[in-house]
Amino acid sequence: MKLSQRVQLLQQSPIRKLTPYADKAKAAGKKVYHLNIGQPDIVTPPAFMEAVKAFDAKVVAYGNSKGEPALIAAIQRYYAALGMDYDTADIFITNGGSEALFFAVLALCDAGDEVLAFEPFYANYSTFAGEFGAKIKAVPTDVESGYHLPPEEVIESYITPRTKAVILTNPGNPTGVVYTSEEQDMIARLVLKHDMALIADEVYREFVYDGAYRSFGSMKELEQNLILIDSISKRYSACGARIGCIISKNKALGKELLKCCQGRLCSPALEQVGAAALYGTPASYLEAVNAEYKKRRDTIVAALAKLPGVKAGDPKGAFYVMVSLPVDDAEKFAIWTLENFAIDNETVMFAPGNGFYSTPGCGTKEARLAYVLNCESLERAIYILGEALKAYNAK
Ligand SMILES: Cc1ncc(COP(=O)(O)O)c(C=O)c1O
Repeated sequence: MKLSQRVQLLQQSPIRKLTPYADKAKAAGKKVYHLNIGQPDIVTPPAFMEAVKAFDAKVVAYGNSKGEPALIAAIQRYYAALGMDYDTADIFITNGGSEALFFAVLALCDAGDEVLAFEPFYANYSTFAGEFGAKIKAVPTDVESGYHLPPEEVIESYITPRTKAVILTNPGNPTGVVYTSEEQDMIARLVLKHDMALIADEVYREFVYDGAYRSFGSMKELEQNLILIDSISKRYSACGARIGCIISKNKALGKELLKCCQGRLCSPALEQVGAAALYGTPASYLEAVNAEYKKRRDTIVAALAKLPGVKAGDPKGAFYVMVSLPVDDAEKFAIWTLENFAIDNETVMFAPGNGFYSTPGCGTKEARLAYVLNCESLERAIYILGEALKAYNAK
């Protein structure tokens, strides 16, 4: 049996690839603080379970390929409340934001096409592009400028006749950047000038800690070029439900997306029932969650500032921070920590930074930390990280 070149060239997820080392540490009786994955510890609103428990159909049947009408209507109302007027026809339910991203690239890219991303970027963007033989063209951004965008002419110099789309996360994973209105206008100009799509991944939309936020969905001029990626995973701490959506007003794209949806028959029935109920969660829930993440952001940034040789970003949204560590290779250090280091039988896991870059050699000394644990656990985890750094560099 021969495997495709395409699949063999895909990278392992930097967020999950060290899991076997963490499992081994746990099997040896250690507690592992997980800073590697964006799995919040926030309780999912009970409306989800209540709706699932109340599901009383006699058959768990296939549903509509495009999604259950009640969920689509709930999402439409959610957007209307944000001042964005989407028709139910514009909304396609997917198996998480992940499948929405997969469909977006499938609908846009042939083998050899390019997707522009701002490096460091969410690692799975490389995976989704690679699955179709497309390539990420990485425009560098850096910690010194808060991972904000370079000037328009610099970005434009990365665009070629094969560039089909710009993909970005706002607020950003892994950097926590929140783009300014001016940056969003610049992106819109470039997208329209070069007749590209903008894949705007806004799954962290509610998690912005300093200042205002504007959705790309509110920019009228982008209407025909915009593909919005959304999900209940982070918004309602419902990662395992696997419910997201892809939204576009472009009817030609919608026709193709419907085929993608039909190809995988439908999204999970019970989870869609639960998801529809989640959209009735009062705004006060999201306000409280936002306040909690802000506290965690402040806690982790303050704790990192105390570690000698560690340089951290200044995240404004989402729940991640990129850090530069005083080691030669953050991946080796991450593995060493899981295998060899613990304080009172507790250790820490984080995602090596190299997987968030596609430019070879970049991010080697960096790591992405997810501040999804409560403040006390975060302080403990960063303390262990600091002690691990000392022990590693004293070897
Ligand atoms: C930026 C970004 N987009 C999309 C996703 C996919 O999320 P899900 O498939 O759980 O909706 C994630 C998950 O971590 C993410 O960080």
